[in-house]
Amino acid sequence: MKTPNPKHQLLGIVSVFAFFIISNGRTLNTNNQMIRAVNLGGWLVTEGWMKPSLFDSIPNKDFLDGAALQFKSKTIGKYLAAELGGGTIIVANRSSASGWETFRLWRINESSFHIRVFNKQFLGLDSTGINLVAISNDYKTSGVFEIIRKSDDPSLVRIKAPNGSFLQAKTQDLVTADSKGDGQWRDDDPSVFSMTIIQRLQGEYQVTHAYGPSKAPQIMKDHWDTFIVEKDFKFIASSGLNAVRVPVGWWTASDPTPPEPYVGGSLQYLDKAFLWAKKYNLKVILDLHAAPGSQNGFEHSSSRDGFIEWGQTDETILETLRVIEFFTARYTNNPSLYAVELINEPLASGVSLTVLAKYYEAGYKVVRKHAPNAFVVLSNRIGGDSKELLPVASGMTNAVIDVHYYNLFSDIFDAMTVEQNIDFIRTNRSNELQAITTSNGPLTFVGEWVAEWQVRGASKEDFQRFSKAQQEVFGRASFGWAYWSLKNVNNHWSMDWMIKNGYITL
Ligand SMILES: *[C@@H]1O[C@H](CO)[C@@H](O)[C@H](O)[C@H]1NC(C)=O
Ligand SMILES: *[C@@H]1O[C@H](CO)[C@@H](O)[C@H](O)[C@H]1NC(C)=O
Ligand SMILES: *[C@@H]1O[C@H](CO)[C@@H](O)[C@H](O)[C@H]1NC(C)=O
Ligand SMILES: *[C@@H]1O[C@H](CO)[C@@H](O)[C@H](O)[C@H]1NC(C)=O
Repeated sequence: MKTPNPKHQLLGIVSVFAFFIISNGRTLNTNNQMIRAVNLGGWLVTEGWMKPSLFDSIPNKDFLDGAALQFKSKTIGKYLAAELGGGTIIVANRSSASGWETFRLWRINESSFHIRVFNKQFLGLDSTGINLVAISNDYKTSGVFEIIRKSDDPSLVRIKAPNGSFLQAKTQDLVTADSKGDGQWRDDDPSVFSMTIIQRLQGEYQVTHAYGPSKAPQIMKDHWDTFIVEKDFKFIASSGLNAVRVPVGWWTASDPTPPEPYVGGSLQYLDKAFLWAKKYNLKVILDLHAAPGSQNGFEHSSSRDGFIEWGQTDETILETLRVIEFFTARYTNNPSLYAVELINEPLASGVSLTVLAKYYEAGYKVVRKHAPNAFVVLSNRIGGDSKELLPVASGMTNAVIDVHYYNLFSDIFDAMTVEQNIDFIRTNRSNELQAITTSNGPLTFVGEWVAEWQVRGASKEDFQRFSKAQQEVFGRASFGWAYWSLKNVNNHWSMDWMIKNGYITL
């Protein structure tokens, strides 16, 4: 740690006395306990990997919104690409595939799609009506395509263009919608492509859009009714936890008539969460997990197609501030409302610090207007500098920096043993946390962690030690911590399962 200058040191001591008492070596908030929370992930904001069965009865479910596809011509042996990433023709001359060679679906229904390229244009035919181009900035002026898979080999596809003809890779730099192919899937048919699905999204947008207005409302209601129920709150409280972090989506603020494809009814479940929290004396950290336009392109922010469009227009920011105002005003009189997290995990590559800082300052004021004492939680950007929000929070009272610590999602963990994973918590995470936990700055919160790792074949005792190490180290965060998540088909990600099976002891 850097040595603080004497003035800050003095202020630090004053604020330590003002805000904390030290007992048994643990830092405690005077009015409030340290947060030991669990996330209620996958409930009011869908994440398919947490409950895959939610997607089971969707027809053609490989082709949901945001499915990212690459196509290799069978005759030319090269990938289709949006030349220059988009704005001009489609070519068939790439030997390897990455961004320009990736096409993202906007689902219309189970068989028809708009298709979006790297620079966000949509595919269509040019004015000759034959050549495939990516020049429309609006899906409405683009084309509608069908993707037909070979029944005994779904990796082979033919793509029907808006004029009813199939696309073909005529030459390396000419892709046209005038195939005379007879649909026999012969190797010499230039309308046959081998397709790779490189990414799927299974979020709230996908599930509601794919089931559509006739089925989605009931399917979501059944999910909300059963995934988290009152007895979960009872269990959480009796397990020694004192709070829940509740991920919510922006559309819940316009319940009961959210914009399509979202379905109405979610708000009453958030109301229930607050009632149950009050009944079982649990604090609520309301976490805006999905903001309009998506702040990170992941399914858990309800991205339609993986692009990040939150913060790129003033409208997305103003809408988000309205959402924060709606939730804060609605729950401020419930004694369980403890903290409002303004946005979860904005991604540094798509959200600039300038835009985010401006939003955080405006969001802080909106919360303060209705809730003078609630904590205001600022999520660090994924991929940003871990200290970059300290100046943003410096003018705020009761501000909290949220960091998410996983021994996952990076190849540095690939070859680590059990002991090395635990050492990483005790040394590296501990140092990272200490570096942002300043005596006169915002509080710190490890708002997501899990006792899962890339180690295979670990014993129950290994998991117990891993979880204990994280509780100890993350227990030094001055606001507290929250496990990701309560329920999950993957046992180690389910705190419910981990506690009930003795893998986590609180
Ligand atoms: C799907 O949408 C397309 C384009 O709007 C329409 O022509 C087609 O009839 C629809 N198909 C189904 C199965 O609803
Ligand atoms: C599609 O475009 C090609 C080239 O103009 C044309 O030959 C073909 O008839 C068109 N197909 C339909 C169904 O309009
Ligand atoms: C692919 O074709 C386009 C258009 O002719 C050309 O500009 C580009 O250089 C070609 N790329 C490769 C890798 O051959
Ligand atoms: C963890 O911290 C130690 C000590 O600072 C350092 O040597 C090591 O490289 C770090 N490990 C990783 C995986 O970054």
